[in-house]
Amino acid sequence: MIAVAIDGPSGAGKSTIAREVARRLGYLYIDTGALYRSIGLYVLRQNQDPHLAEQVEKLLPEIDLTLCHEDGVQQVYLNGQNVSEEIRLPEVSMAASAVSAHPPVRQFLLALQRRLAAENNVIMDGRDIGTVILPDAKVKIFLTASAQRRAFRRWQELKEKGASDTYEQVLADVEQRDYNDSHREIAPLRQAPDAVLVDTTQLDLEASIDRVQQIIAEHLD
Ligand code: DC
Repeated sequence: MIAVAIDGPSGAGKSTIAREVARRLGYLYIDTGALYRSIGLYVLRQNQDPHLAEQVEKLLPEIDLTLCHEDGVQQVYLNGQNVSEEIRLPEVSMAASAVSAHPPVRQFLLALQRRLAAENNVIMDGRDIGTVILPDAKVKIFLTASAQRRAFRRWQELKEKGASDTYEQVLADVEQRDYNDSHREIAPLRQAPDAVLVDTTQLDLEASIDRVQQIIAEHLD
């Protein structure tokens, strides 16, 4: 099986780009952030604090996560309920970032991610795919863009969905999550030494997709 690992900070366009490249190549696209988000959502639903390792760890045995693809679109089921929409709420983003810093959470999700890659040709996006989850991935890409650019794109998406967040709020969220994701002790966000860097600050979507597809083609040759 062939694995392509795409890591990078939130809002760099990873999911949009990875989904489209996967479609073109006929690979399965796996958005691993959805797994951390689902755990964050569960913790919030139980009125527990996502920052408290002990509270979160206690809940893990109650959590059953399933990823499946419907019409090529990834759906995530939390204890049998489709939560694919709900996990995109801003408060769930923050909870996901908090729970992802706890080692038992990362351990809990490790086997699931590796199994998906063992069974399918995958493009997997996340923060630690090339460094921890799939260190032997055939292709590794580190996709990034300036915080301002990423916040602007995210703000536009939220506006289209009718949310009233201001650009400044979104930028503050992006910066806070960047900080959390890159400063946590376990599996912090960082570029694998053998990953190719793609900076999309100045690239539009089409150019970013083409660049990623070109890198994959070069590595598979
Ligand atoms: O990619 P995303 O924004 O949906 O991810 C949500 C959070 O989950 C993010 O703040 C960091 C965490 N995450 C992680 O730690 N490791 C991954 N492989 C994917 C996401």
